[in-house]
Amino acid sequence: MTDCNFSSAGTQEQPIAGYESRLFNDKGFTLKIRPINPNDTDAWIIFVNGLSPNSKFYRFHHIIKDVCAKDAQPFCSIDYINSFALIAELVQDGFPEIIAVGRYTRINESTNAEFAIVVDDDFQRRGIGAEIMKDLAKVANMNKITTFEGYTLIENYEIINFLKKCGFLLKIVPRTAMQHVSFPTDRMVGVRGFEPPTT
Ligand SMILES: CC(C)(COP(=O)(O)OP(=O)(O)OC[C@H]1O[C@@H](n2cnc3c(N)ncnc32)[C@H](O)[C@@H]1OP(=O)(O)O)[C@@H](O)C(=O)NCCC(=O)NCCS
Repeated sequence: MTDCNFSSAGTQEQPIAGYESRLFNDKGFTLKIRPINPNDTDAWIIFVNGLSPNSKFYRFHHIIKDVCAKDAQPFCSIDYINSFALIAELVQDGFPEIIAVGRYTRINESTNAEFAIVVDDDFQRRGIGAEIMKDLAKVANMNKITTFEGYTLIENYEIINFLKKCGFLLKIVPRTAMQHVSFPTDRMVGVRGFEPPTT
């Protein structure tokens, strides 16, 4: 896979809100990371309904029934500044297939945003989540969001491992069933241009 960057990587599309879609190869598949748009609602519904109960629960924090077009609309129609979502889709003939979504939503008018990410169960542990999450942090930072935060289920140690592996500098505050996780969007250990400041 390519390193986290904003190069066009061979696509002919115009950037959306400054983000240039990029392609990378993953074990025989060509994937594209790009911002979501309103035409993605059908693919988004298929993606969410196809997640395992565990991934749905970790992502949405409760048991969700199948989603429909009305549910999809706010997830696919975003302003690309205060709310942003990147998807990874399989590049193939016919209907595009979403296999991962990472998003942020600014909290009120602050410089903090809530983040969320989920990867199709068949495509987890292949580096796709990390590719999206690092790009999402860069986009957020360009849009003057300095901190990502969110509640994760206390048993979801995977997301903590994942965020640490991405290089984010986590602050974790445990609660009863959840933990509050926050981290700067502009500091990632080991990511060029995003090193923590020297003290
Ligand atoms: C958490 C999640 C987004 C990770 O996405 P992913 O594409 O599988 O992650 P990556 O392949 O990029 O993993 C990067 C690193 O994170 C860590 N990691 C990822 N998944 C992990 C897991 N299940 N257990 C332990 N560590 C894990 C590993 O260190 C991994 O590197 P490695 O494979 O070289 O060891 C994905 O597992 C997922 O969708 N989970 C369900 C939804 C969820 O929990 N969302 C978070 C709340 S919003």
